[in-house]
Amino acid sequence: MTPTSICLFNHKGGVSKTTTTFNLGWSIARLGYKVLVVDLDSQSNLTGLVLGYTSVDDDEMEAFYSSRSNLTMQPIVESLINGISPAEFMKNDKGRLTPTGHENLSLLPGHLDVADLDAQISVSLKIASGIPATRNIPGNLPLILQEIAKSSGVDYVLYDLSPNVGGLNEVILMSSDYFIVPASPDYFCLQAIGSLEKNIKKWYREINRFKEDNNFDSKSYPIRNCPKFIGAIQQRYRPRNEKPAKSFDAWINQIREAIDTKLAPTLESIGCILPRKDVQAELKGTDLSAYDLAHIPDFNSLIAISQQLSKPVFALSDEEIKTVGKVFGHAEQTMIDSRDRFDEVFEALANRVVNLTR
Ligand SMILES: Nc1ncnc2c1ncn2[C@@H]1O[C@H](COP(=O)(O)OP(=O)(O)OP(=O)(O)O)[C@@H](O)[C@H]1O
Ligand SMILES: [Mg+2]
Repeated sequence: MTPTSICLFNHKGGVSKTTTTFNLGWSIARLGYKVLVVDLDSQSNLTGLVLGYTSVDDDEMEAFYSSRSNLTMQPIVESLINGISPAEFMKNDKGRLTPTGHENLSLLPGHLDVADLDAQISVSLKIASGIPATRNIPGNLPLILQEIAKSSGVDYVLYDLSPNVGGLNEVILMSSDYFIVPASPDYFCLQAIGSLEKNIKKWYREINRFKEDNNFDSKSYPIRNCPKFIGAIQQRYRPRNEKPAKSFDAWINQIREAIDTKLAPTLESIGCILPRKDVQAELKGTDLSAYDLAHIPDFNSLIAISQQLSKPVFALSDEEIKTVGKVFGHAEQTMIDSRDRFDEVFEALANRVVNLTR
């Protein structure tokens, strides 16, 4: 079976792309699917989150990357830039994916060199009928990643991208089966929805032209150019009585409206969105409406424990909350209750995503 690929993308920074990739990956893994999360941001935040910010020092990190038994983005970038074909790369001993705290979830760690690849891909895409040496790079990146996911028997592959509109994000988004837009309830994010619309349309045209110019039009070409938008995940408002505080509520509505009235029609015109009625049907019985997949409150003090233990907030045990959070009594109970609510929110979200992508 070919793994289903989902991209978490918003060129706006700090909207919880990385955190949501990890949390959603873990929650889909809990449903019994095998999931791979891929760190495609040269900041490598997702890798830091999985390996542990606090427990890993520089020497350990260096040993991790220099060990040939760990597969990371570094040799992938190197082989792509050196023109090694994905088939050849797959034949060699590649090393293993990095395990996480959940047995069904693994990580392909990121690397600073991913930034070099980004620049190379951008150049290749812009040169009409690309130079033979570089024209295969844009398609070979998603191809290698798909082959790795396939050979590891993964059901889902989730891509965490950096906040920019470079060539790497372009080919990964346009080669994915689906994409989700993490969003935060504020003015900058609302503004980003407008530019997202223009940008995806531009990418769609550029990839079409790139494929035509290079005769890459076969059905099996890895950049299929029709990722389907599933919806947005709006996050990090401060809850008041379990509902978003009023000021956030207004932004949430405006962002949903912008998605519905601007982004969705444009995506529809290029075949890059799931039908509204399908998403709406999946949201039935909730207070959400298309294209909002979830509203996720601020994790507050749970986030610190979660990062320390490299586990999502909803996967923390009572004991971990108590000992690592150093809380007791009323504060402890408040955190446990809050963990339980996140647990429900993420379970529902994972089910929604699985149902919409099957
Ligand atoms: N629901 C949440 N509640 C509280 N803090 C959160 C929540 N989601 C994310 N954060 C925190 O917000 C910060 C930004 O999150 P994250 O790094 O996931 O965003 P990003 O979109 O990946 O950022 P970048 O654009 O730099 O890649 C992090 O410190 C993270 O721990
Ligand atoms: Mg990030």
